[in-house]
Amino acid sequence: MVEGQVYPVSDEWKKRAKVDAEGYEQLHGRSIADPGSFWLEQARRLDWIKRPEIAGDWSFDEDDFHIQWFADGKLNVSANCIDRHLKTRGDATAIIWEPDDPNEQAKSFTYRDLHREVCRFANVLKREGVTKGDRVTIYMPMIPEAAFALLACARIGAIHSVVFAGFSPEAIAGRITDCDSAFLITADEGRRAGRTVPLKANVDKAAAQARALKKVIVVRATGGDVAMTEGRDIWYDEAVRDVADDCPAEPMGAEDPLFILYTSGSTGKPKGVLHTSGGYLLWASFTHELAFDYRPGEIFWCAADIGWITGHSYIVYGPLANGATTLMYEGVPNWPDASRIWQVVDKHRVNTLYTAPTALRALMAEGDEPVKATSRASLRLLGTVGEPINPEAWRWYHHVVGEDRCPIIDTWWQTETGGHMIAPLPGAHALKPGCATKPMPGIDPQIVDADGNVLTGEAQGNLVIARSWPGQMRTVWNDQERFFQTYFATYPGKYFTSDGCRRDANGDYWITGRVDDVINVSGHRMGTAEIESALVLHESVAEAAVVGRPHDVKGQAIYAYVTLNSGVESSEELRDTLIKWVRSEIGPFAAPEAIQFAPALPKTRSGKIMRRILRKIAEGDTSSLGDTSTLADPAVVDHLIDNRIS
Ligand code: WT7
Repeated sequence: MVEGQVYPVSDEWKKRAKVDAEGYEQLHGRSIADPGSFWLEQARRLDWIKRPEIAGDWSFDEDDFHIQWFADGKLNVSANCIDRHLKTRGDATAIIWEPDDPNEQAKSFTYRDLHREVCRFANVLKREGVTKGDRVTIYMPMIPEAAFALLACARIGAIHSVVFAGFSPEAIAGRITDCDSAFLITADEGRRAGRTVPLKANVDKAAAQARALKKVIVVRATGGDVAMTEGRDIWYDEAVRDVADDCPAEPMGAEDPLFILYTSGSTGKPKGVLHTSGGYLLWASFTHELAFDYRPGEIFWCAADIGWITGHSYIVYGPLANGATTLMYEGVPNWPDASRIWQVVDKHRVNTLYTAPTALRALMAEGDEPVKATSRASLRLLGTVGEPINPEAWRWYHHVVGEDRCPIIDTWWQTETGGHMIAPLPGAHALKPGCATKPMPGIDPQIVDADGNVLTGEAQGNLVIARSWPGQMRTVWNDQERFFQTYFATYPGKYFTSDGCRRDANGDYWITGRVDDVINVSGHRMGTAEIESALVLHESVAEAAVVGRPHDVKGQAIYAYVTLNSGVESSEELRDTLIKWVRSEIGPFAAPEAIQFAPALPKTRSGKIMRRILRKIAEGDTSSLGDTSTLADPAVVDHLIDNRIS
């Protein structure tokens, strides 16, 4: 990385931004020196039924392990995102919805519209028997009803568990069963890039395996023909006809669960990350306003999917808590053509665009013309999230897309953190391509070595967070022990992020990527163990090892080594079968790009697979395999090299 390249805050941004360099130092300094009063003051940005008198109450130590924020406070998240704006901005636009097909009509909803839609949705849920604390699975395309469904759950105190619409029936079933969810909201079909996605049909297949499921509410999105199961499935448009326009918001404790979101880790089974009401909403609202310097009236577009945490925090909760206008886009950035994303920016006069490096790399590959064919004059700020952004893509985003006038806010965070953790504030921090720069107020990052020694000054090592913050996940659903073991056991007293990180001479943080067996394919986080578990479920497979290898557009691509059961012959056909198998076990985005059949995998004498070697071979970097002397059978490596898939 070119360390020398620095883009200082422009004079214009110094003047206009809410927080300048000095303001940041003050905020961050106070948040660390006196977190109690700092966070109680910040809590005023929410509307409380009972205002909290305590801020953080937490310990990361094993014998007293607990995390709570604003625990004596009461509020309702949906009322914070809707009702409290009605008096001042009831007629302001809350949601702009842009359809997949550019020839179809966009829709928009004022805060008053949103109130009615969410209340009606909540009343349908209530009538179907959903009560406070129930888990509701949401498997939806990017249509306005997806946002209504989240907020309707929050309104009545139900816990939503959104499953990304790209997941397979098996993956949905696993998530329904894990959180014992009796209710599911879906649509007949989804649409993306002109194609339809059979959502209801996938739910039907999932339901056959998920005993917990009792009721399915189906939103009519495409009008496609779907099967309905008597007694279990209901059409939303029929159910909503005769419900009231108003639904009281349930008073919730700040620590009552708001949602579960499953994410991959380094073991086979996805974890149900649990976020609660008060701290999460405060963090989403606080970070949305600071990192994007959000001002009322601006159009904010987070081009993520509601199925991921980015969509939860920056399409729905953060922007709506701040009374923003949030844009929801059904389609993909480059359909019908490579100009679409910029056309949408012009059409809705988007001021802030927040997207992922993988999308930028795909668009960059189409050249500058599709960008230059549009105006983009409305843009004032650009954001990125999901993986380290390569400086080349950063510069393209800055120069070609933003015409050198929009700061690039590179936000490092995780499903577990609820919102931004390390990111430049546009009026405060000089930018460096590929660098997430400084911690948000309240965040106390440290870099530690493998033994947990805290490294000071310029340093490279593992990134930990030394104290709790309001948006921190509270537990793994139903598995507090796994929560502790995954995040707090490695470096006692600290939250371990599983990311590597470097701090430069200027105190800026550069995220270097995961240090565990989690890979990042087109911004989708995947545990290699999850893909391996799926592969070994197939009757022909004895053993599998999955690694990531660099990919120009996707960031990483999935490379799988598969050992077949004895007597099973390898073939191209079997390769295709296994790729399809993973698609159906997890989802299309988890399909391996390459499968190499391997009679044996490189193992230590104690039987541990040496992934370092497998990664090197997949990358084609076979000259520097390092020490192979600890291998049980070094000859295995030569066979792997000879049969590598390029
Ligand atoms: C992992 C978390 C946070 C929402 C989207 C992904 C990587 C995320 C950045 C960034 C470098 C990043 C990390 C992290 N990551 N943003 N700006 N720079 N790396 O959420 O699916 O929970 O994945 O994504 O490796 O641990 P997620």
